[in-house]
Amino acid sequence: MRGEPSRLVALRDGSVALVRDVVPDDERGLDELFRAGMGVEARQRRFFSAAVATAAMARAAALHAADEVGLVVEQDGRLIAHAMAVPLDGEDAEVAFAVADDRHGLGLATLLLGSLARRMDAAGVRRLHADVLPGNQAMLEVFEHAAPADEQTARGCVHVTLDVDEVLAGLAGQAAVVA
Ligand SMILES: CC(C)(COP(=O)(O)OP(=O)(O)OC[C@H]1O[C@@H](n2cnc3c(N)ncnc32)[C@H](O)[C@@H]1OP(=O)(O)O)[C@@H](O)C(=O)NCCC(=O)NCCS
Repeated sequence: MRGEPSRLVALRDGSVALVRDVVPDDERGLDELFRAGMGVEARQRRFFSAAVATAAMARAAALHAADEVGLVVEQDGRLIAHAMAVPLDGEDAEVAFAVADDRHGLGLATLLLGSLARRMDAAGVRRLHADVLPGNQAMLEVFEHAAPADEQTARGCVHVTLDVDEVLAGLAGQAAVVA
């Protein structure tokens, strides 16, 4: 899927970070993020197992399929967040987010959700889906603050569905673009 230009954004603590598409060279940085940047609970919430092989996950994220979108946020030479969207069929896509533990609450997942929604909108996707572990209030709040979220609990997960247009409307102008 065609990329977007990198952009510098202002985070809630006043610091600046670069949001850009994933490139294959990000494999090592993604492994650092998944392994060292995230604690046991965060890894479990992202990958549904704390014992996940982070190197394999990093490789898959760095070399994602052509119809998928992978985004990273870079700051001070390290990757501090990753988000991806995987089309499920013509009008639906699954999204997932990983933010370094020491960078939570700065608006990163919110701005990445907005970016993924724009990209999926351009690809004709109308709904975003995510499976969220119960108790992952931070993730649920990101979705709920963006748009009316349909939440169905099944098989031990909260399945969240968001309308792409509502996300775009809800997050319009959310992140201050520095350059
Ligand atoms: C869930 C996660 C992606 C959120 O990322 P983030 O960059 O911290 O989220 P944001 O800063 O954009 O927004 C967080 C929102 O949730 C709230 N929030 C943040 N941490 C919270 C917590 N521990 N409990 C409750 N609410 C929380 C914030 O108040 C904020 O709301 P606001 O917009 O009104 O201020 C991040 O916590 C994470 O990586 N968790 C581990 C992996 C994971 O759970 N992935 C999701 C799998 S789909």
